[in-house]
Amino acid sequence: MTETTTALVTGANKGLGRETVRRLAGLGWRVFLAARDTARGEAAAAELVEDGLAVEFVPLDVASEDSVFAAAEAVKARSGRLDVLVNNAGVVDSGIPVTDVRGDDVRDLFEVNVFGPVRVTHAFLPLLRASENPRVVMVSSSAGSVPDAIEWGKTYGPVLGYPSSKAALNMITTQYAIALGDIRINAVNPGKTATDMTGFSADSQPVTEGAEVIVKLATVGPDGPTGEFFDNDGLVPW
Ligand SMILES: NC(=O)c1ccc[n+]([C@@H]2O[C@H](COP(=O)([O-])OP(=O)(O)OC[C@H]3O[C@@H](n4cnc5c(N)ncnc54)[C@H](OP(=O)(O)O)[C@@H]3O)[C@@H](O)[C@H]2O)c1
Repeated sequence: MTETTTALVTGANKGLGRETVRRLAGLGWRVFLAARDTARGEAAAAELVEDGLAVEFVPLDVASEDSVFAAAEAVKARSGRLDVLVNNAGVVDSGIPVTDVRGDDVRDLFEVNVFGPVRVTHAFLPLLRASENPRVVMVSSSAGSVPDAIEWGKTYGPVLGYPSSKAALNMITTQYAIALGDIRINAVNPGKTATDMTGFSADSQPVTEGAEVIVKLATVGPDGPTGEFFDNDGLVPW
């Protein structure tokens, strides 16, 4: 008998994370909807369960070592393995001018966007290794591509934290891919998507389109790509 595929998505109470949970559970997968706030996470999971999907809430604050460890223990107890990890949780800068940004401002953002995916990937590695086809998707951004970020900064004004955090995440992806030959691990750029992060701006695509590339890399087979950066149109230059 084929075992049900298991997946966990961080920052999944809303936006692209929630849509990714919906899509993966729609494939008949068992999906752990991870969120830092219990009320918001349980409410999001309950809505998807009402739609008949196999979704389970797991409390997980990517900025907390203890919370990530507890989440990995909870998934271990419930399923014994994890086939797909989607590191989706992310935050943006608070809008402070570049010259006024203090080290602590950048540290808070890196806690979520950079140290978070490392913390979560490290904690879930034993569970991923128990899978026959383990996959990790790092939800990055075109802001993490150096030429794109320079162009953006010149046009709209420079930003310190978010682009540098996503560039770091991209590099982390390449190094994990070298280290973990048995795991497919890729970075993706969903593209500008209507979520709280973009203020649902009018020029944004719907979450259904943004989640497309996340789902694509979450569903690759054992011969699929690893250590690459994708958007909906294919490979993205680092
Ligand atoms: N939207 C876009 O245009 C766009 C484009 C490129 C890349 N991305 C990337 O896509 C990912 C999802 O973004 P989104 O657009 O869906 O934004 P969003 O709607 O603001 O969702 C962000 C999610 O991250 C969660 N989060 C923040 N800090 C966390 C923490 N410490 N622990 C756990 N979860 C935390 C938020 O939880 P709370 O609700 O509790 O705050 C929320 O669930 C991010 O990595 C973002 O950088 C987005």
